[in-house]
Amino acid sequence: EGFLPFEHEPYFNFGREEVAEQQREAYRLVREKYVGRTFPMFICGKPVEGSETFEVHNPADTREVAWRFPKATPEQLEEAITCAKAAFEEWRFSDPMQRATIFKRAADLLRARRMEFNAVMGLENGKNWAEADGEIAECVDHFEVFAREALKWAQGKPVYPMPDEHVTMVYEPIGVVAVISPWNFPAAIPLGMALGAIAAGNSVVWKPASETPLSSLLLVELLFEAGLPRNVIQFITGTDEVLGDPLVDHKDIRMIAFTGSKEIGCRIMERAAKVQPGQKWLKRVMAEMGGKDPTVVCADADLDAAAQGIVQAAFGYAGQKCSACSRVIAEDSVYDELLDKVVTLARELKVGSPEENAALGPVIHPGSANRILDYIEKGKGTARLVLGGERAESGEREGGYIAPTIFADVNPRDPLFQEEIFGPVLSFTRARDWRHAIDLANDSEYGLTAAFYSRDPQKINEARRLIHVGNLYVNRKCTGALSGTHAFGGYGMSGTNAKVGGPDYLFWFLQTKTVAQKY
Ligand code: NAD
Ligand code: ALA
Repeated sequence: EGFLPFEHEPYFNFGREEVAEQQREAYRLVREKYVGRTFPMFICGKPVEGSETFEVHNPADTREVAWRFPKATPEQLEEAITCAKAAFEEWRFSDPMQRATIFKRAADLLRARRMEFNAVMGLENGKNWAEADGEIAECVDHFEVFAREALKWAQGKPVYPMPDEHVTMVYEPIGVVAVISPWNFPAAIPLGMALGAIAAGNSVVWKPASETPLSSLLLVELLFEAGLPRNVIQFITGTDEVLGDPLVDHKDIRMIAFTGSKEIGCRIMERAAKVQPGQKWLKRVMAEMGGKDPTVVCADADLDAAAQGIVQAAFGYAGQKCSACSRVIAEDSVYDELLDKVVTLARELKVGSPEENAALGPVIHPGSANRILDYIEKGKGTARLVLGGERAESGEREGGYIAPTIFADVNPRDPLFQEEIFGPVLSFTRARDWRHAIDLANDSEYGLTAAFYSRDPQKINEARRLIHVGNLYVNRKCTGALSGTHAFGGYGMSGTNAKVGGPDYLFWFLQTKTVAQKY
């Protein structure tokens, strides 16, 4: 009760010069404090170096090594899991109020350091100021939301009574949870999964993406500073050979909380199904995966609002979001006008360094850039290129800079329409009418987010009923879910529909015990 009311963390207004200067200053401090350092893992609560390390490169100029992290050995993985198992035996009985208080403290600690965390993320994964700020503000929200959720689930639920028995139904934690996360949201995504696990009373083995480990490590240290017993999270970094299959396969792992590609999510699901010698449970798998998210624009829509929403959702963070708009499906009568508006706005996007807050930064790797350019080259043969379609000028920098790219008249069978490209590439497809547009929106194996633009209540009702996604946004962009409000997770091959930040999320990390007692 004392925690109410809840308010989402407001974003910084970088349009104000003094705020922008604070962000620049944070970059200077982060460069001074962190760049060039080698960071540890945390195993059994202690910082652990590795005999070998790997480099984290700044995507804005991949010649720059931002920092280094240890490559864990198989023995270190074993030690981490053993410690997590021991930690679980204590943490499972911890007071939910203690968990909630730690999260509240962590929220306050993070509020004081948001600019610093933004800068670290910018140097690791190339998010500009506002994109990084959105994610770090989401982390503050996660702390606040999970503080409340920890208390909510501690109470159990009422059952229908029996005259001669006292019956209770309570929720208990399940064990050691492996948290495996992607580079595109290196703070909010693993934090959401880890807090879900810990709020429920589980211990965690946290394996960050190798492109972005510092954004994760700083959050782990923040939780320690806030009072989390240091063995409740094992933080372990390194190669997929050592920390991929072997972590998933391990007999002492009770659950895998994964966010990443469809390919790896499906692999984890399959491997986790096999019961290993000595394993005493069926593993639980949460696998949140890709998207091919549509924006449907009806003839009666506010086309300017739609164009703005589309450009933000398609090109924010260079389209490297599971939630990014990658398909626009517009009714025939407004298709050309909408396309013109979107192209006009997208042409204005300045490509450049995230550290200097360019609207459109580099993609994560030079290798990703090549993969995206491959889609673009093939698309030139199957659809009408109306913007971009090439690398962008990046001055002296070496990075995966790609011009905002738009294809028109894309056939629904084209890979541009069906496959997750994960870059600044948007396709337009013409629909005969708004119902046809809804059918086209659903013509995908994915079902993560969608946006629907119309002013007509009847069309909106049909869209609410028929569009097959976990997160549908009406008359707004399809990115930017807020913790606590827009429970996030998709349908179909977008994953297990975990709905992070939602009121049922903690149930993923719990098991239910019924006790019937006679007196
Ligand atoms: P990825 O699947 O390549 O990697 C994700 C994580 O899995 C990394 O930490 C990686 O090291 C690890 N991994 C690799 N091989 C493994 C194995 N055999 N066993 C266990 N773990 C293994 O994904 P990525 O390139 O980091 O992220 C981009 C993808 O993530 C996109 O498809 C995007 O749509 C998706 N994503 C989904 C959501 C969502 O909420 N649905 C959110 C963000 C990103
Ligand atoms: N949660 C992120 C969004 O909604 C992926 O954009």
